[in-house]
Amino acid sequence: MASSDIVALIVAAGKGERAGGDVPKQFQLLAGVPLVEHARRAFAAHPRIDRVVTVVAPDSEIPVSGETVAGGETRRESVRNGLEYIGSASRILIHDAARPLLPASVIDRLLAELEAYEGAVPVLPVADTLIRWENGQIGGSVNRDQLFRIQTPQAFVFDVILAAHRNWPEGRDATDDAQMVRDTGHKVMKVAGDPLLDKITYPGDLALAEARLGTTMRLRTAQGFDVHRLVEGEELWLGGVLIPHDKGLSGHSDADVALHAITDAVLGTIAAGDIGTHFPPSDPQWRGAESGQFLRHAASLVAAQGGTIDFVDLTIICEAPKIGPWREPIRDRVAALLGLARDQISVKATTTERLGFTGRGEGIAAQAIVTVRA
Ligand code: CTP
Ligand code: MG
Repeated sequence: MASSDIVALIVAAGKGERAGGDVPKQFQLLAGVPLVEHARRAFAAHPRIDRVVTVVAPDSEIPVSGETVAGGETRRESVRNGLEYIGSASRILIHDAARPLLPASVIDRLLAELEAYEGAVPVLPVADTLIRWENGQIGGSVNRDQLFRIQTPQAFVFDVILAAHRNWPEGRDATDDAQMVRDTGHKVMKVAGDPLLDKITYPGDLALAEARLGTTMRLRTAQGFDVHRLVEGEELWLGGVLIPHDKGLSGHSDADVALHAITDAVLGTIAAGDIGTHFPPSDPQWRGAESGQFLRHAASLVAAQGGTIDFVDLTIICEAPKIGPWREPIRDRVAALLGLARDQISVKATTTERLGFTGRGEGIAAQAIVTVRA
């Protein structure tokens, strides 16, 4: 596989013994979505992450979206397998699936430090007073100034972390990649972590994360609407899919009315105007343009504000062609454009009972509603 620039590696091959439950913690549900999928979506939605790989237990039969590779007995072995599988990249972020709530701002801070250092890790200060336990009773207190709690994702220059893993002595364990890089003589810088990133480790942690999500999550919903004229001699693009039909849609770009409606809805969630604001039809560079790029741009603006697209509901309004056979390809294409899973994309269609311009086959209309959380 070709070398991607910035890769995210999620380790999800553990047994989750301390957390308990019917399935390992990384597959338990938070707001109805498995922990590992929360982490995957956070990376997939980030404009600077080119590829996401998840390490899963070799014997696990629980499906995981996206690209996966088999892990090992320890976290270190799981990371090593992931690195060897990826093979080459410029930079990598290694993340625990057990930390589902990953703010885009932490990824931004890590990548900024990687411009100057071989490694960067998110840390939080220790709030409580720390004491030693000595001879069965309270000993002296510990100076907190030099102490930090370390989180993931941990970000590294790919070749540096790969070499650290390859040269690590067999038998010596390491639960933390930053330590391994430090031991090879490279400098690892700290950035501000986030309490949302705290790891799910013990049984009560999931309920706590659920409560946190409920109080911190902001939901935004916005709608988009578009119409294009059906004419002879044009291709018919709907939802990023070329559909064979005797007519196609006319417009300045590829006139993909469905992607335009979704793009406007996405822009609406951040009150960033509409598709015409960003890609003026008067600008010749958008002549015949593939509309997927408009949607990707809108999504990157949402991600830049810390938002994650949660759900897209699209309705295509036309008499012909029949949309049913194209529903799944459109879902897959829109999901791929947005870095989402198919179950986050709904595609519906309706006729208007031969009434109006859609009923007469003069044009196709599309409506979309997009939900974003931040
Ligand atoms: N992990 C892994 N492969 C292993 C062990 C751990 O990919 N052999 C992953 C876990 O899935 C988790 C992360 O490393 O996302 C952090 O490890 P930890 O919190 O210790 O998870 P578990 O090992 O699964 O939990 P426990 O130690 O309670 O069994
Ligand atoms: Mg463990």
